[in-house]
Amino acid sequence: MAPRVLIIGGSGAVGKPLVDEFLKQRSHFERIAVLADPAKISRFADAEKKGVEIVVGSFLDASSYKGFDVVVSLAGNAAMKLQPGMIEAAIAGGARHFYPSEFGGDISVGDFWQNRYFRDKVVTRDHLAAKAKEHPDFRYTLVLTGPFTEYAVSSFNGIDFEKHTVEPYGKPGAQLSVTAMADVMRYIVGSILIPFDGSKNVREFRVPGEARITWETLVEYLGEVQGVEYKLTYLDPREAAAKQEEARKSGNEDEEVFWAGKSVMLNGSGLIPGPLDNAKFSFTPETAKETIQRLFGKK
Ligand SMILES: NC(=O)c1ccc[n+]([C@@H]2O[C@H](COP(=O)([O-])OP(=O)(O)OC[C@H]3O[C@@H](n4cnc5c(N)ncnc54)[C@H](OP(=O)(O)O)[C@@H]3O)[C@@H](O)[C@H]2O)c1
Repeated sequence: MAPRVLIIGGSGAVGKPLVDEFLKQRSHFERIAVLADPAKISRFADAEKKGVEIVVGSFLDASSYKGFDVVVSLAGNAAMKLQPGMIEAAIAGGARHFYPSEFGGDISVGDFWQNRYFRDKVVTRDHLAAKAKEHPDFRYTLVLTGPFTEYAVSSFNGIDFEKHTVEPYGKPGAQLSVTAMADVMRYIVGSILIPFDGSKNVREFRVPGEARITWETLVEYLGEVQGVEYKLTYLDPREAAAKQEEARKSGNEDEEVFWAGKSVMLNGSGLIPGPLDNAKFSFTPETAKETIQRLFGKK
């Protein structure tokens, strides 16, 4: 039977393009639905006209998941900590395949497992592993892409596009993997259509669009496409860590996560270790250079 998919967080920054990608591949799915809070249904009016179902309810209620095989969570930072509850409800409602809200670096390598920015993703992975032991027919998929290129090359990482300066927290020469956002969506949707190996409860798709690049090279491409030279100055990650700790002590969770996120890009853990799975998909992803050219209307 073709998969019946429920998307949680379909109105978010990643949720919208993901819904669009599902619509492009509509014929491969029996049902594509978004879970919507009763007060926010109107956000999905356009998607509904194009063939997306709206399930009205809470992601903590088992009945929301009835009739779905696959659940894709796109919970943002605020809702991330609620994912264990979603997983419980999804299993109780009959769903047997869960995509946790990951879609970035491999949080099991380097400092990431201890980084506050990924704490709720770590807890979610542990919860999934425990549930898979309890329910032998429950499965989950991790999609690892590294940072989205569009998010890497952004003001969040200290880029000033007008002054042509870059001041990220990190160290020179750190390597990372990056993937264009539209390609991340193709990998997520395409992966659902790849049969799960029956002997396992968990699988990973390691699918960076640009498998290995340095921050210096990204900045060089940026300068090249704008016809300018960027001045790159690294900031000490300990300064970001101190601000993170200050925020934690004052109980400002959003600030705490914000500062934790400042040092994830260039701490050397942003590289997705192989073996990679890109060859399991039938499209060629955009390179980092192509994405930057596209962002500046040069492609
Ligand atoms: N690798 C990268 O560079 C990269 C970049 C961006 C995102 N990501 C990952 O992609 C995933 C999704 O991120 P995003 O940027 O799309 O997040 P987002 O824009 O914050 O969207 C989060 C979604 O969750 C919903 N949500 C938030 N709080 C909620 C709550 N308490 N109850 C119910 N729903 C709630 C939001 O709905 P409402 O608007 O109704 O609250 C929204 O639909 C995350 O895992 C993130 O780390 C990765």
